[in-house]
Amino acid sequence: MKLYFAPMEGITDVIFRQVFQAQFGGVDKYFMPFVSPSSSLSYTVRQDFELSPEQNRGFFAVPQILAKDPLCFLGAARGFADSGYTEVNLNLGCPSGTVTGKGKGSGMLRDVDGLKRFLDQVYGNSPLPVSIKTRIGFDSPAEWEKLLPVFAVYPIHELIIHPRTRGQLYRGTPYRETFARATETLTCPLVYNGDLFTVQDVQQVQAMFPAASGLMLGRGALTNPALLREIRGGAPLAMEDLIRYHDRLYYAYMKTWKPLTAVGRMHVFVKYLSHSLDVPAKYVRQAMKETQPEAYLDAVAEMFRRAQVKDVPCYSQQEYAMPAFRQDP
Ligand SMILES: Cc1cc2nc3c(=O)[nH]c(=O)nc-3n(C[C@H](O)[C@H](O)[C@H](O)COP(=O)(O)O)c2cc1C
Repeated sequence: MKLYFAPMEGITDVIFRQVFQAQFGGVDKYFMPFVSPSSSLSYTVRQDFELSPEQNRGFFAVPQILAKDPLCFLGAARGFADSGYTEVNLNLGCPSGTVTGKGKGSGMLRDVDGLKRFLDQVYGNSPLPVSIKTRIGFDSPAEWEKLLPVFAVYPIHELIIHPRTRGQLYRGTPYRETFARATETLTCPLVYNGDLFTVQDVQQVQAMFPAASGLMLGRGALTNPALLREIRGGAPLAMEDLIRYHDRLYYAYMKTWKPLTAVGRMHVFVKYLSHSLDVPAKYVRQAMKETQPEAYLDAVAEMFRRAQVKDVPCYSQQEYAMPAFRQDP
């Protein structure tokens, strides 16, 4: 079974991909966080860096496009084909209000006829195979039954299903039964995504959906960067893994970005990694409070000194909230 790293805007950028690949690897494909091409198809300097084939060498990276205008999608796909990419992904899942308000991302699931017209153009003209990452509906899981016949008629390279509605964001129980419906109805390769936080979660989903061709992991692998290794039968997460990984990320960001921006990004990683640690809350909070490089490094070193890796590192469902750490005795 293939294992994919989920695209996570503001987190799984190219620096992350390089560091993760060098230390852990084991990822069949990294899906890049979305780009939303304008009609001029021009990118910012940072996007150019992010998308550059040179920076994405040594691993399989798939650019993701967020667009509702088929011409924008196709123009971006042509650019990716010209730079040597071999596949692109369409974002039908983004739940953000600013995105869905423009009828993009999961907003496209609301208008089934519009979606068909868009996919006719895309699949009729794309220079590259197009995979799709989708939710199962906008307001209700019942919408899935209307979406399945749409997906059935296109040569979808891979359909990655996050079985939540837009309204659920990344919370609440995924409607796993909708994935089963897809395995009954569709013939394209199907990839399951959502709440795979432990080896046990993965084994459960593999047993439920033997027809799935792959699994995509996001928050689980950010929390426990050794999770894919463990799934493949390797060693569980150790403290040395975490410290080395943290330091590699930190110095890679410091080399490329301004110090304050780099430390800001590291706070995001610390937030996820802290779910893997048994550590008094105050040490995590301190690390996430420090904005100056030296003070930040001291605080992180103290956090790791006071911490132990949990027996079963696991992302906590409290998305965007600090986890409930145990208090100092
Ligand atoms: C902060 C954040 C950013 C995300 N950015 C993207 C994105 O750019 N494109 C996308 O398709 N999904 C994006 N997602 C959704 C993830 O790819 C994934 O579907 C979601 O986290 C559920 O998988 P998980 O339970 O394994 O984390 C994002 C999720 C989060 C939490």
